[in-house]
Amino acid sequence: HAKISASVYTSHVPAIGAALDLGKSQEPYWQPVFAGYEASKTWMKENTPDVIFLVYNDHATAFSLEMIPTFAIGCAERFQPADEGWGPRPVPVVQGHPELAAHIAQSVIQQDFDLTIVNKMDVDHGLTVPLSLMCGQPQAWPCPVIPFAVNVVQYPAPSGHRCFELGKAIRRAIESYDTPLNVQIWGTGGMSHQLQGARAGLINPEFDNAFLDQLISDPQNLAKMPHIDYVREAGSEGIELVMWLIARGAMDDVAGGKAPRVAERFYHVPASNTAVGHLILENQP
Ligand code: DHB
Ligand code: FE
Repeated sequence: HAKISASVYTSHVPAIGAALDLGKSQEPYWQPVFAGYEASKTWMKENTPDVIFLVYNDHATAFSLEMIPTFAIGCAERFQPADEGWGPRPVPVVQGHPELAAHIAQSVIQQDFDLTIVNKMDVDHGLTVPLSLMCGQPQAWPCPVIPFAVNVVQYPAPSGHRCFELGKAIRRAIESYDTPLNVQIWGTGGMSHQLQGARAGLINPEFDNAFLDQLISDPQNLAKMPHIDYVREAGSEGIELVMWLIARGAMDDVAGGKAPRVAERFYHVPASNTAVGHLILENQP
Protein backbone atom coordinates (compact mmCIF):
# COMPACT_ATOMS: atom_id res chain seq x y z
CA HIS A 1 0.00 0.00 0.00
CA ALA A 2 0.97 3.63 -0.47
CA LYS A 3 2.10 5.63 2.56
CA ILE A 4 2.76 9.23 3.54
CA SER A 5 6.41 9.59 4.53
CA ALA A 6 6.70 13.33 5.10
CA SER A 7 5.05 16.72 4.80
CA VAL A 8 6.48 19.98 3.55
CA TYR A 9 5.06 23.39 4.48
CA THR A 10 6.05 26.57 2.69
CA SER A 11 4.86 30.03 1.80
CA HIS A 12 4.41 30.99 -1.85
CA VAL A 13 5.18 34.46 -3.19
CA PRO A 14 5.10 35.32 -6.91
CA ALA A 15 8.18 37.53 -6.53
CA ILE A 16 10.19 34.51 -5.30
CA GLY A 17 9.44 32.77 -8.61
CA ALA A 18 10.35 35.91 -10.53
CA ALA A 19 13.62 36.32 -8.58
CA LEU A 20 14.62 32.76 -9.46
CA ASP A 21 13.48 32.94 -13.09
CA LEU A 22 15.30 36.27 -13.65
CA GLY A 23 18.54 35.08 -12.01
CA LYS A 24 18.26 37.39 -8.98
CA SER A 25 18.39 34.77 -6.25
CA GLN A 26 21.86 35.88 -5.08
CA GLU A 27 20.92 39.56 -4.79
CA PRO A 28 21.16 40.79 -1.15
CA TYR A 29 17.37 41.03 -0.76
CA TRP A 30 16.72 37.45 -1.95
CA GLN A 31 19.86 35.64 -0.84
CA PRO A 32 18.63 34.95 2.75
CA VAL A 33 15.31 33.59 1.43
CA PHE A 34 16.94 31.04 -0.88
CA ALA A 35 19.66 30.25 1.69
CA GLY A 36 16.88 29.17 4.05
CA TYR A 37 15.85 26.45 1.57
CA GLU A 38 19.33 25.09 0.77
CA ALA A 39 19.17 22.29 3.36
CA SER A 40 15.63 21.49 2.25
CA LYS A 41 16.70 21.12 -1.38
CA THR A 42 19.33 18.61 -0.23
CA TRP A 43 16.68 16.84 1.87
CA MET A 44 14.40 16.78 -1.18
CA LYS A 45 17.11 15.10 -3.31
CA GLU A 46 17.71 12.51 -0.60
CA ASN A 47 14.00 11.96 0.06
CA THR A 48 12.44 12.21 -3.39
CA PRO A 49 8.99 10.64 -3.15
CA ASP A 50 7.08 8.79 -5.86
CA VAL A 51 4.28 11.36 -5.78
CA ILE A 52 3.67 14.77 -4.17
CA PHE A 53 0.12 15.58 -3.09
CA LEU A 54 0.35 19.37 -3.23
CA VAL A 55 -2.24 21.42 -1.35
CA TYR A 56 -2.25 25.01 -2.64
CA ASN A 57 -4.54 27.78 -3.69
CA ASP A 58 -5.36 29.12 -7.10
CA HIS A 59 -5.38 32.94 -7.24
CA ALA A 60 -8.26 33.55 -9.68
CA THR A 61 -6.06 32.01 -12.40
CA ALA A 62 -7.66 28.67 -13.34
CA PHE A 63 -10.79 29.58 -11.38
CA SER A 64 -12.41 32.98 -11.02
CA LEU A 65 -15.37 34.57 -9.30
CA GLU A 66 -17.47 32.72 -11.88
CA MET A 67 -16.63 29.33 -10.41
CA ILE A 68 -15.31 28.72 -6.89
CA PRO A 69 -14.75 25.11 -5.79
CA THR A 70 -13.91 24.82 -2.09
CA PHE A 71 -11.73 21.73 -2.69
CA ALA A 72 -10.58 20.68 -6.19
CA ILE A 73 -8.42 17.67 -7.05
CA GLY A 74 -6.36 17.68 -10.24
CA CYS A 75 -6.84 14.34 -12.02
CA ALA A 76 -5.18 15.24 -15.35
CA GLU A 77 -2.08 13.71 -16.97
CA ARG A 78 -0.33 17.08 -16.87
CA PHE A 79 -0.80 20.70 -15.79
CA GLN A 80 0.72 23.68 -17.60
CA PRO A 81 2.29 26.58 -15.70
CA ALA A 82 -0.23 29.42 -15.92
CA ASP A 83 0.20 32.83 -17.49
CA GLU A 84 -0.46 35.21 -14.58
CA GLY A 85 0.11 38.32 -16.65
CA TRP A 86 3.85 38.13 -17.45
CA GLY A 87 3.77 34.93 -19.51
CA PRO A 88 3.97 31.41 -18.06
CA ARG A 89 6.92 30.84 -15.70
CA PRO A 90 9.82 29.04 -17.45
CA VAL A 91 9.41 25.94 -15.29
CA PRO A 92 8.70 22.32 -16.23
CA VAL A 93 5.20 21.12 -17.00
CA VAL A 94 3.73 19.41 -13.94
CA GLN A 95 3.11 15.70 -14.54
CA GLY A 96 0.05 14.42 -12.68
CA HIS A 97 -0.82 10.97 -11.36
CA PRO A 98 -4.34 10.36 -12.73
CA GLU A 99 -4.65 6.88 -11.26
CA LEU A 100 -3.81 7.81 -7.66
CA ALA A 101 -5.76 11.07 -7.99
CA ALA A 102 -8.86 9.17 -9.13
CA HIS A 103 -8.46 6.75 -6.22
CA ILE A 104 -8.17 9.61 -3.73
CA ALA A 105 -11.23 11.33 -5.24
CA GLN A 106 -13.23 8.11 -4.93
CA SER A 107 -12.12 7.46 -1.35
CA VAL A 108 -12.34 11.01 0.00
CA ILE A 109 -15.76 11.71 -1.56
CA GLN A 110 -17.03 8.43 -0.08
CA GLN A 111 -15.70 9.70 3.27
CA ASP A 112 -18.15 12.60 2.88
CA PHE A 113 -15.84 15.38 1.69
CA ASP A 114 -17.20 16.79 -1.56
CA LEU A 115 -14.31 17.37 -3.96
CA THR A 116 -14.49 18.99 -7.37
CA ILE A 117 -12.80 16.85 -10.00
CA VAL A 118 -10.64 18.85 -12.39
CA ASN A 119 -9.41 17.25 -15.62
CA LYS A 120 -7.87 20.37 -17.17
CA MET A 121 -6.22 23.16 -15.23
CA ASP A 122 -3.25 25.51 -15.42
CA VAL A 123 -1.31 25.89 -12.17
CA ASP A 124 -0.22 29.28 -10.84
CA HIS A 125 2.48 30.50 -8.42
CA GLY A 126 0.63 28.85 -5.55
CA LEU A 127 1.85 25.49 -6.87
CA THR A 128 4.98 26.29 -8.90
CA VAL A 129 6.76 28.52 -6.37
CA PRO A 130 6.80 25.83 -3.63
CA LEU A 131 8.18 23.36 -6.22
CA SER A 132 10.88 25.88 -7.19
CA LEU A 133 11.85 26.52 -3.58
CA MET A 134 12.20 22.80 -2.84
CA CYS A 135 13.65 21.61 -6.16
CA GLY A 136 15.48 24.60 -7.65
CA GLN A 137 15.55 24.82 -11.45
CA PRO A 138 15.55 21.24 -12.81
CA GLN A 139 14.74 20.22 -16.41
CA ALA A 140 11.81 18.23 -15.06
CA TRP A 141 10.16 18.13 -11.62
CA PRO A 142 11.47 15.10 -9.72
CA CYS A 143 8.16 13.22 -9.54
CA PRO A 144 4.46 13.41 -10.44
CA VAL A 145 2.36 15.95 -8.53
CA ILE A 146 -1.35 15.83 -7.67
CA PRO A 147 -2.57 19.43 -7.40
CA PHE A 148 -5.19 19.98 -4.71
CA ALA A 149 -6.67 23.48 -4.83
CA VAL A 150 -8.43 25.06 -1.83
CA ASN A 151 -10.56 28.18 -1.97
CA VAL A 152 -9.00 30.73 0.38
CA VAL A 153 -9.61 33.68 -1.96
CA GLN A 154 -13.38 34.23 -1.72
CA TYR A 155 -15.31 33.86 1.53
CA PRO A 156 -16.50 31.50 2.86
CA ALA A 157 -13.19 29.61 3.02
CA PRO A 158 -13.19 26.20 4.74
CA SER A 159 -12.45 26.15 8.47
CA GLY A 160 -9.15 24.97 9.90
CA HIS A 161 -11.01 22.13 11.55
CA ARG A 162 -12.52 20.92 8.27
CA CYS A 163 -9.11 21.14 6.62
CA PHE A 164 -7.53 19.09 9.42
CA GLU A 165 -10.22 16.41 9.17
CA LEU A 166 -9.88 16.40 5.38
CA GLY A 167 -6.17 15.68 5.81
CA LYS A 168 -7.05 12.58 7.81
CA ALA A 169 -9.40 11.43 5.04
CA ILE A 170 -6.68 11.99 2.43
CA ARG A 171 -4.31 9.87 4.50
CA ARG A 172 -6.85 7.03 4.67
CA ALA A 173 -7.34 7.34 0.92
CA ILE A 174 -3.61 7.14 0.21
CA GLU A 175 -3.08 4.25 2.61
CA SER A 176 -5.82 2.28 0.85
CA TYR A 177 -4.10 2.58 -2.56
CA ASP A 178 -2.90 -0.84 -3.55
CA THR A 179 0.59 0.10 -4.80
CA PRO A 180 3.60 0.71 -2.51
CA LEU A 181 4.10 4.40 -3.34
CA ASN A 182 6.05 6.83 -1.17
CA VAL A 183 3.85 9.95 -1.02
CA GLN A 184 4.64 13.39 0.40
CA ILE A 185 1.90 15.86 1.26
CA TRP A 186 2.67 19.56 1.00
CA GLY A 187 0.73 22.40 2.64
CA THR A 188 1.48 25.78 1.10
CA GLY A 189 0.59 29.49 1.27
CA GLY A 190 0.84 31.91 4.21
CA MET A 191 2.32 32.96 6.53
CA SER A 192 1.06 36.35 7.74
CA HIS A 193 0.38 38.82 4.95
CA GLN A 194 -2.21 41.30 3.81
CA LEU A 195 -2.13 42.58 0.23
CA GLN A 196 -5.07 44.96 0.40
CA GLY A 197 -6.83 47.66 2.38
CA ALA A 198 -5.76 49.80 5.31
CA ARG A 199 -3.57 47.10 6.90
CA ALA A 200 -1.73 46.16 3.67
CA GLY A 201 1.80 45.05 4.55
CA LEU A 202 0.83 43.49 7.88
CA ILE A 203 3.32 40.89 9.19
CA ASN A 204 3.07 39.19 12.59
CA PRO A 205 6.16 37.11 13.48
CA GLU A 206 4.88 36.27 16.98
CA PHE A 207 1.71 34.76 15.53
CA ASP A 208 3.61 32.96 12.77
CA ASN A 209 6.11 31.34 15.12
CA ALA A 210 3.38 30.29 17.53
CA PHE A 211 1.53 28.79 14.54
CA LEU A 212 4.65 26.78 13.59
CA ASP A 213 5.07 25.58 17.21
CA GLN A 214 1.44 24.51 17.45
CA LEU A 215 1.38 22.93 14.01
CA ILE A 216 4.20 20.67 15.16
CA SER A 217 3.03 19.82 18.65
CA ASP A 218 -0.69 20.49 18.99
CA PRO A 219 -2.37 20.62 15.56
CA GLN A 220 -5.68 19.35 16.96
CA ASN A 221 -5.98 22.50 19.05
CA LEU A 222 -4.64 24.78 16.33
CA ALA A 223 -7.37 23.46 14.04
CA LYS A 224 -9.98 25.01 16.36
CA MET A 225 -8.80 28.54 15.58
CA PRO A 226 -11.63 30.46 13.85
CA HIS A 227 -11.26 32.52 10.66
CA ILE A 228 -11.51 35.81 12.49
CA ASP A 229 -8.29 35.04 14.37
CA TYR A 230 -6.40 34.33 11.14
CA VAL A 231 -7.59 37.58 9.62
CA ARG A 232 -6.96 39.70 12.71
CA GLU A 233 -3.56 38.21 13.57
CA ALA A 234 -2.18 37.12 10.18
CA GLY A 235 -3.90 39.54 7.79
CA SER A 236 -6.51 38.93 5.10
CA GLU A 237 -4.23 36.61 3.09
CA GLY A 238 -3.02 34.86 6.26
CA ILE A 239 -6.10 32.66 5.83
CA GLU A 240 -3.99 30.70 3.31
CA LEU A 241 -2.53 29.00 6.41
CA VAL A 242 -5.59 26.74 6.78
CA MET A 243 -4.07 24.71 3.93
CA TRP A 244 -1.16 23.71 6.18
CA LEU A 245 -3.69 21.94 8.41
CA ILE A 246 -4.68 19.63 5.54
CA ALA A 247 -1.10 18.42 5.24
CA ARG A 248 -0.70 18.20 9.03
CA GLY A 249 -3.95 16.20 9.35
CA ALA A 250 -2.50 13.58 7.00
CA MET A 251 0.55 13.09 9.22
CA ASP A 252 1.11 11.12 12.41
CA ASP A 253 -0.80 12.30 15.43
CA VAL A 254 1.03 13.65 18.47
CA ALA A 255 -1.97 12.63 20.61
CA GLY A 256 -1.56 9.07 19.33
CA GLY A 257 1.97 9.07 20.78
CA LYS A 258 3.64 9.31 17.35
CA ALA A 259 5.16 12.75 16.90
CA PRO A 260 6.63 13.47 13.47
CA ARG A 261 10.29 14.52 13.38
CA VAL A 262 11.09 18.14 12.55
CA ALA A 263 13.62 17.86 9.71
CA GLU A 264 13.75 21.58 8.79
CA ARG A 265 12.34 24.84 10.10
CA PHE A 266 12.85 28.33 8.65
CA TYR A 267 11.27 31.76 9.02
CA HIS A 268 12.19 34.95 7.22
CA VAL A 269 10.84 38.48 6.77
CA PRO A 270 10.67 40.25 4.36
CA ALA A 271 9.88 38.59 1.05
CA SER A 272 7.69 40.87 -1.03
CA ASN A 273 4.65 41.46 1.23
CA THR A 274 4.75 38.08 2.91
CA ALA A 275 6.34 36.40 5.91
CA VAL A 276 8.04 33.25 4.61
CA GLY A 277 7.66 30.19 6.82
CA HIS A 278 8.86 26.68 6.10
CA LEU A 279 8.78 23.34 7.86
CA ILE A 280 9.49 19.71 6.98
CA LEU A 281 7.97 16.99 9.15
CA GLU A 282 8.81 13.30 8.73
CA ASN A 283 6.67 10.44 9.94
CA GLN A 284 8.76 8.07 12.07
CA PRO A 285 9.06 4.55 10.67
C1 DHB B 1 2.06 37.97 -2.48
C2 DHB B 1 1.73 36.91 -1.65
C3 DHB B 1 0.77 35.97 -2.05
O1 DHB B 1 0.33 34.94 -1.29
C4 DHB B 1 0.19 36.08 -3.29
O2 DHB B 1 -0.64 35.10 -3.65
C5 DHB B 1 0.50 37.15 -4.12
C6 DHB B 1 1.43 38.09 -3.70
C7 DHB B 1 3.08 38.98 -2.07
O3 DHB B 1 3.71 38.85 -1.03
O4 DHB B 1 3.30 39.93 -2.83
FE1 FE C 1 -1.19 33.67 -2.22
